[in-house]
Amino acid sequence: MSGRETTERALAVHRLLNSQTSTNGHQLTTGRRFPLPDVHPPRADLVATLARRRSAYDYADRDLELTALSALLRFSVGVQRFVPAFGVSDYPLGMAPSAGGLDVLRAYVVVRKAEQLKPGVYRYEAVSHELVELDDEDPLPALKNVYLQPEFVPRAAVSLALTARLDVAFDKYPLRHYRTVHVDSGLAVQNLYLIATALGLSCCAVSGFDDAALSALLGLPGPEIPTMVFAAGHSE
Ligand SMILES: Cc1cc2nc3c(=O)[nH]c(=O)nc-3n(C[C@H](O)[C@H](O)[C@H](O)COP(=O)(O)O)c2cc1C
Repeated sequence: MSGRETTERALAVHRLLNSQTSTNGHQLTTGRRFPLPDVHPPRADLVATLARRRSAYDYADRDLELTALSALLRFSVGVQRFVPAFGVSDYPLGMAPSAGGLDVLRAYVVVRKAEQLKPGVYRYEAVSHELVELDDEDPLPALKNVYLQPEFVPRAAVSLALTARLDVAFDKYPLRHYRTVHVDSGLAVQNLYLIATALGLSCCAVSGFDDAALSALLGLPGPEIPTMVFAAGHSE
């Protein structure tokens, strides 16, 4: 079976499991690029950070500092190293391991309140460590349809969204690897939890979201599925 056929099969099962019909959403065009500042890694003991990590429901009502957002992305889902692979000399591998080293995951930032960034939707470009603006509409009305728990909407300064590109996974692997894209997401989520904790941020992994509403907000192409949402902001 070709990668394309495998992707179609996986999407059919995915939609069935999520009670979704086929969506041909409106893809967003890429806009301005925002280079993120260079930041030092947080200095925190690993085991102490694991022990301090919590899912938070209280967030300070203020802009997320750009250095905090930069560090959160850089050290959780940024590039760890470059290796010769897949026919190129400098293939990027991430801070979190991924099945086969494939570049399956994408990270998006839905900004409600952040320094130097307008509210809107951005895609994180890990190699250049930049945000690419996708939509500068106020995302608040759309976020109300994304979160199944409405309390996150006015609390999280930013909502990160992780997605998986099924076409990338199934160009290499058979259908049973539907599971590895979710494992990859889980590893990225734990990185986000640990870095957010080390930075003193409040955060929470959220799987209670509406798939279609989130796909529409991010303007995802058909084979790219949302896997997790991660609410973050400063602590009270
Ligand atoms: C995969 C995953 C999905 C989660 N989804 C939600 C969610 O939709 N809503 C929520 O309030 N918390 C969610 N959480 C947070 C868990 O409820 C929380 O991790 C758990 O209660 C343990 O608390 P702790 O993280 O503070 O140790 C999720 C956590 C994980 C790992």
